[in-house]
Amino acid sequence: MSYELLTALSIITIGLSGLLIVSGLVLIKKGKKSWHKKAMLSASFLALLFLIFYGIKYFSYPPKPYDGPFKGFYLFVLISHSILAAVNLPLAVVTVFLGVTGKYERHKKIAPVTAVVWIYVAITGWLIYAFLSIGR
Ligand code: HEM
Repeated sequence: MSYELLTALSIITIGLSGLLIVSGLVLIKKGKKSWHKKAMLSASFLALLFLIFYGIKYFSYPPKPYDGPFKGFYLFVLISHSILAAVNLPLAVVTVFLGVTGKYERHKKIAPVTAVVWIYVAITGWLIYAFLSIGR
């Protein structure tokens, strides 16, 4: 797969995954539990696809450097994104597990943290893409 195709697939899957998390939050606030479950499981599936595309890209191509004018901000976004993306994986697994096994009290405690981290990772994923598209 070409670098451009992998980048497009990564950015589409992480973006849609973030949008589905936001939709899932709106749905649970409206009490639509079954639709909440569908949205969150779809978000998780897309995040898994993202990981696969990201993994292929990581092992097939060298990382692209950023040489634009906002290097400090770019590095802050890149580092916080990478750390939180790694943190998001176990958080997501536990949150989904507690949801599908019906442990809702514990699910409700950890889920808001997972949602915020997930959305941050999705938005900064797009930001990094924007930085690399514009600032080279
Ligand atoms: C990473 C994915 C998920 C996130 C971020 C998430 C997020 C949330 C949040 C923030 C709440 C609390 C809403 C509130 O208190 O107003 C909640 C509640 C709930 N979630 Fe999830 N959720 C996820 C996956 C799932 C899955 C896979 C299920 C499967 C059944 C599920 C079932 C529920 C149910 C039934 C509630 C309501 C619990 C109650 O009111 O007693 N969630 N979720």
